[in-house]
Amino acid sequence: MTNHSTPVIQTDNLSKVYRSGNKEVQALNNLNLSVRQGEIFGYLGPNGAGKTTTIRLLLDLIRPTGGSASLFGLDAQRDSVAIHRRIGFLPGELNLWKNLTGTQVIDYVARVRGGVDRKLVNQLSERLDFDASKRVRDYSSGNRRKLGLILALMNQPELLILDEPTNGLDPLVQQTFNDLMREIRAEGRTVFLSSHMLGEVQSICDRVGILRGGQLQAVESVAALRRVDFEYVTIRFRDPVRVDVLAGLPGVTNVTVDGNTVRLCLHGDYNPLLVALRDQYIVDIDTEEPSLEDIFLSYYGNGTNAHKPAETVKEMAS
Ligand SMILES: Nc1ncnc2c1ncn2[C@@H]1O[C@H](COP(=O)(O)OP(=O)(O)O)[C@@H](O)[C@H]1O
Ligand SMILES: [Mg+2]
Repeated sequence: MTNHSTPVIQTDNLSKVYRSGNKEVQALNNLNLSVRQGEIFGYLGPNGAGKTTTIRLLLDLIRPTGGSASLFGLDAQRDSVAIHRRIGFLPGELNLWKNLTGTQVIDYVARVRGGVDRKLVNQLSERLDFDASKRVRDYSSGNRRKLGLILALMNQPELLILDEPTNGLDPLVQQTFNDLMREIRAEGRTVFLSSHMLGEVQSICDRVGILRGGQLQAVESVAALRRVDFEYVTIRFRDPVRVDVLAGLPGVTNVTVDGNTVRLCLHGDYNPLLVALRDQYIVDIDTEEPSLEDIFLSYYGNGTNAHKPAETVKEMAS
């Protein structure tokens, strides 16, 4: 058993440079990450950030060009066999035997692994609304993902490593997925999942790590990220706008005007804005969620637009 204080995942300057011909790609650069037992950790980053590379390194599917990783306090390379027994893994791209049915794939993997609870398999299939009788090649990408999830969950691993698990899942199934992850956490098990969508993971993750260009930019609790919630608002007026009414409004920054259209960044409640605009004729309001990059920049400040919760500033300074 893992000691409660031993991180389930720990990396020490973990690095990977891919070399092909005379081209080099630094896919992961000195990653120092620690994932605790019993948490749902979201590994967030845009495509190409190095998420899959990290996961492959953790699983010893590829070798680092620098640094090391340990899982359950065991060395990712030397102890990979023992580690794999305790992990459920969902790869980003699932290459399954296309001519087998879902049931046959499950049976085969169950026989190889041993110790699979049939009742659990049936329960998972039912909850995910997965029809195991079809052939793999006839499954949609969403159904392949469900099959992959069943394979990852069915021997009740201590640690789940899921590479973009919600890609291609419809919203209802995503809800079930979220429930499953929370149940796993409630049992003291650990989930490490990657995603390129903050919105998708913020409802289930306890903490998120933000990766960009192979570098870990930040590790934050989701609660802290929530506090910097903002959105872009575009308002189209019937008449030319008087921007002076927007100056100094609480939560309003980055006001730009283009003819009868105003674009601004709004933190927090709408009410002050709507009250200030009550005498002007509004044709249309459009809102847009910030990208991960924008939230990140807002969080860590790119000059005057910084909007940081006080306690985080303290955390970062310490
Ligand atoms: N086998 C490989 N050979 C060369 N470059 C690779 C290889 N795999 C990934 N890369 C590059 O490494 C970077 C990180 O890729 P990846 O880990 O797949 O990112 P993510 O999973 O976050 O989308 C990208 O620039 C990608 O093109
Ligand atoms: Mg990937």
